[in-house]
Amino acid sequence: MSFDRKIKIAPSILSADFANFGQEIRAIEAQGADWVHVDVMDGHFVPNLTFGPQAVKAFRPHVKTVMDVHLMIAPVDPYIDAYADAGADVLTAHIEAGPHIHRTLQAIRGAGMKAGVALNPGTPAEAVAHLLDLTDLVCVMTVNPGFGGQKFIDMTAKIRSLRSMIGDRPVHIEIDGGVDPATAPLVTEAGADVLVAGSAVFKGGSVNDPTVYGENIRKIRTATEGTWT
Ligand code: DX5
Ligand code: ZN
Repeated sequence: MSFDRKIKIAPSILSADFANFGQEIRAIEAQGADWVHVDVMDGHFVPNLTFGPQAVKAFRPHVKTVMDVHLMIAPVDPYIDAYADAGADVLTAHIEAGPHIHRTLQAIRGAGMKAGVALNPGTPAEAVAHLLDLTDLVCVMTVNPGFGGQKFIDMTAKIRSLRSMIGDRPVHIEIDGGVDPATAPLVTEAGADVLVAGSAVFKGGSVNDPTVYGENIRKIRTATEGTWT
């Protein structure tokens, strides 16, 4: 995985057909997805339950781009090796998930993955001030995590602060929640480069009608043109 700040669209398979993940992943990649975003929820850190490392390992052979695994679980540390074994390229943990995020990020890198740290809407940018040399991605939640299809919460001031704190470091800013063609340019203009989108990518399409996914991805990408440097 090489680093750049070009806009990357990362469809969240939380909005895919749960009986058909392999085909859905192949369809979104064929239609222009840059990364594949995988939402792991434990019914404890967030009030919803999705899948665990065995399922993520089964997704791996279908993902030709970057498998971006977003852990909404607590605790995180006992599962890091399982997600490395599952083939995650990026493994993101929430700063709110435990008292030792510094240790968690070191362990994620130590297991050979890129380390991401996610911030809930109520958590300030300054919470990562002493973590920026330990992390490869900061995920700014623009919804309260747990469900797809929620309304975008404006976090542009937080994104701007992060962008300035990050400076020249090779750290991605990822936005997760309520990203669509209307909200995407707000966050890229503020400094984000990875856009997670679930409902806005999958709506109206299916594996039998995958060109809709492509149109939806293009609409988001086009909306961001000219907003980033
Ligand atoms: C929310 C998840 C998101 C979700 C985004 O807890 O982390 O990745 O799938 O879905 P949309 O794009 O529908 O808000
Ligand atoms: Zn997510």
